[in-house]
Amino acid sequence: MSAKLEAIGIAKRYGDSVALEPTDLAVQAGEFLTLLGPSGSGKTTLLQMISGLVAPSAGRIEIAGRDVTHVEPGKRGIGMVFQSYALFPHMSVWDNVAYGLRMRRKSREEVRKAVDDALAMVRMSEYAKRFPKELSGGQQQRIALARCFAYRPSVILLDEPLGALDKKLREHMQSEIRGLHKELGATFVYVTHDQDEALTLSDRICLMNQARIEQVGTPADLYDRPATRFAAGFIGHSNLLEGAIDETRGAGGEPILLAAGGRIPLPVNTPVAPATRHTLLLRPEAPRLVEPQSGFVDGTIADIVFFGSDTRLQLSMNDGSALSVRCGRSLSPRIGDRVGLVWDPYRTTLLHA
Ligand SMILES: Nc1ncnc2c1ncn2[C@@H]1O[C@H](COP(=O)(O)OP(=O)(O)O)[C@@H](O)[C@H]1O
Ligand SMILES: [Mg+2]
Repeated sequence: MSAKLEAIGIAKRYGDSVALEPTDLAVQAGEFLTLLGPSGSGKTTLLQMISGLVAPSAGRIEIAGRDVTHVEPGKRGIGMVFQSYALFPHMSVWDNVAYGLRMRRKSREEVRKAVDDALAMVRMSEYAKRFPKELSGGQQQRIALARCFAYRPSVILLDEPLGALDKKLREHMQSEIRGLHKELGATFVYVTHDQDEALTLSDRICLMNQARIEQVGTPADLYDRPATRFAAGFIGHSNLLEGAIDETRGAGGEPILLAAGGRIPLPVNTPVAPATRHTLLLRPEAPRLVEPQSGFVDGTIADIVFFGSDTRLQLSMNDGSALSVRCGRSLSPRIGDRVGLVWDPYRTTLLHA
């Protein structure tokens, strides 16, 4: 049970301030789409207009091809989960999960089966008789999920549902939510400001910035081919190398970017004009260490940061800029060492200003 969801020219203003510029977004039936972006970028506003809790200033919302812009939240066939679990404190777990079903006037037998199934799905069946205050934060959030799943909505909206949990529990709940999405088969729209969470969970990510969509794509699209400086900086670790295109091309006809104190080859067909300034994204895992003066750029190891699975070198480049490079555990670099770097030019991305 899943439905396609579409926002068409949807926008929100509060007086003179713009919470969301006119925005188009289509979420496929059964897809897990994440709205990712910094605080204040308009994620909650967009989600709440989909839910019907906030009325748009312009545009419309369609669910399964039906215009629901003027349909009240309870009649849109959607479920919602928020950061604060909003469980009723005076009701048992079982009654909390049953509440929405009773409101929908389901028969006693239907309610019993739906509640039991939903509690089993979040593995909380043994806790049915407890009260919310007798549960941990993670358990309460599981009940909030069960309460939403119980009436089998075809679209589920989640606004930072794991925001209140500590890191370890959050990671555990992430894999549970991913599993529940598969099991339910519903369309999920998930809000977070945490890039790792978005990369882990999503079929696609809608990256938001300053009241508009910056880029929509798969996690790999956003990581490997960020469209803008903002996208490159927000997702993953990045080095941004700034410089001008050299007047002369390289031996293979490739354009050369003068940056980080070196001559950096770009893919041969990169459309650039000489003397124009550009920014190149170089992920820390792309370069390989070589002898000084035998790579594209040279630097001095200024710091070595241990990350468990690998080591991150902070390099001070010849032009004074800093560069972060991942290095395998087999090498044993020392602070003060001079190193050169080479990489596959096709693993870099030239960014728009
Ligand atoms: N009820 C409101 N009245 C006025 N401004 C609001 C209201 N709700 C949100 N905003 C503003 O809209 C912008 C987007 O907010 P929001 O959608 O909550 O961002 P996010 O969820 O990405 O943190 C922010 O600048 C916020 O201050
Ligand atoms: Mg928000």
